[in-house]
Amino acid sequence: MSHSLTTMSYIIAAILFILSLSGLSNQETSRRGNYYGMAGMAIAIIATALSGTVTAYAILIIAVLIGGSIGAMLASKVAMTQMPELVAIMHSLVGMAAVLVGFANFMDSSSGLAGAEKTIHEIEIYIGILIGAITFSGSVIAFCKLSEKISGKPLLLPARHWFNLLLLVAVFVLGAQFLQQTEGGGGNLPMLFLDHSGALPLLIMTVIGLTFGVHMVMAIGGADMPVVVSMLNSYSGWAAAATGFMLSNDLLIVTGALVGSSGAILSYIMCRAMNRNFISVIAGGFGTASGGAAAVIEGEVQPIDADETAQLLLAAKNIMIIPGYGMAVAQAQHTVYEITKFLREKGKKVRFGIHPVAGRMPGHMNVLLAEAKVPYDIVFEMEEINEDFANVDVSIVIGANDIVNPSALDDPNSPIAGMPVLECWHGKTTIVLKRSMASGYAGVGNPLFVLENTRMLFGDANATMQAVLKALKG
Ligand code: TAP
Repeated sequence: MSHSLTTMSYIIAAILFILSLSGLSNQETSRRGNYYGMAGMAIAIIATALSGTVTAYAILIIAVLIGGSIGAMLASKVAMTQMPELVAIMHSLVGMAAVLVGFANFMDSSSGLAGAEKTIHEIEIYIGILIGAITFSGSVIAFCKLSEKISGKPLLLPARHWFNLLLLVAVFVLGAQFLQQTEGGGGNLPMLFLDHSGALPLLIMTVIGLTFGVHMVMAIGGADMPVVVSMLNSYSGWAAAATGFMLSNDLLIVTGALVGSSGAILSYIMCRAMNRNFISVIAGGFGTASGGAAAVIEGEVQPIDADETAQLLLAAKNIMIIPGYGMAVAQAQHTVYEITKFLREKGKKVRFGIHPVAGRMPGHMNVLLAEAKVPYDIVFEMEEINEDFANVDVSIVIGANDIVNPSALDDPNSPIAGMPVLECWHGKTTIVLKRSMASGYAGVGNPLFVLENTRMLFGDANATMQAVLKALKG
């Protein structure tokens, strides 16, 4: 393929990626956004394979077949509730690719670069490996936390910020050494791989990058994980962009920058939604300092059954449904929509209130509701409906916990203090569907469950919703 044809294909792919991102920002256009992304990626892969940079087609085909089948197998097997972990582990692969490409570039003596160009290339390698290593280890820890393989509790080392600062200074010092030694060009470090000078500082920096990634994510508490997921998404974009610089591939630079900046914007939106400080997120270990112990929840819960729930719903005019992670676990979205349709046919006003960090990934609830074909015009963001609860007769909280926790607003010692929540307790009655009195992701008690106007409907959310539907129809 000629150079100009490759460039044109890259421009088309980049435009498709931009259209994809803008499509994905809205539920109604998100399907189209996905198609644009798939088309862009297909064009990008074909154009790169035919651009003349690839010579070993057999290896490429074998790699694509192996990688493609692992991807297809994982995607077909993964449950919706495991999506966040899958995304986290995918980010780790982008990080690992950046590290491997960096080392491959470092060891490749055929580049023939000299002077300033050589220095710039070495800086690219150094930064690429650094971002890649942080993304890789940070994403692996995020994967372990999200899949509950390790505890979600923050690991708070003493003087952790000084430790981070020390790592940062070491990265700069090693960077200077790396450039100095590579300038020298002579193999003055014979004990290291392939006699490459600069190898030792590069290796030490990689270990520091990996350590920083682990420490950064370990220090973050359960409730703050949403920001970490979007932040690692952003890091993976920058890692891809760095890989693009190392490989002199313009499309990879553009695509990486798109992912990096959109991930950063998403992190900012998440921080605002959770009332956290963006800068302290980037520094790691934020939002975990807490003065005293969080308040203990005391009081009697008032259980309710499916028939009584149906009676309350039939008597109500204005109903708000608040879905959370438990709806995803129970896969209750279809039954919830059946109930919604039934109540709307009876002339009731039924709306959905969505918290920005409900579930385990950005837009988790929107995806589930779209899958159940809930019309978009009855699905509202938290800030659109939070003032409205005084007019709501019945709120049904389906497997949500942290996002409806009043202590976020009134207990300054709560780990989720300051996070805006859906203030359903201002309505007439709140019905909470969950299996037990267990806490949510943040591991904090919820005083909502013992309020006078709250009723608890215990059981798997899909089973209880089906019982309510039966009672409504009966
Ligand atoms: P959570 O606070 O985690 O509460 C979910 C509740 O669902 C649990 O208390 C659980 O109680 C219940 N549940 C689980 N399975 C159920 C089932 N089959 N049937 C009925 N109930 C079930 O969820 P949330 O309110 O959606 O809040 C999200 C939390 O996750 C926040 O802390 C947020 O910071 C964090 N987080 C969010 C994200 C993103 S980006 N959205 C990413 C990482 C972390 P039982 O066990 O008693 O049933």
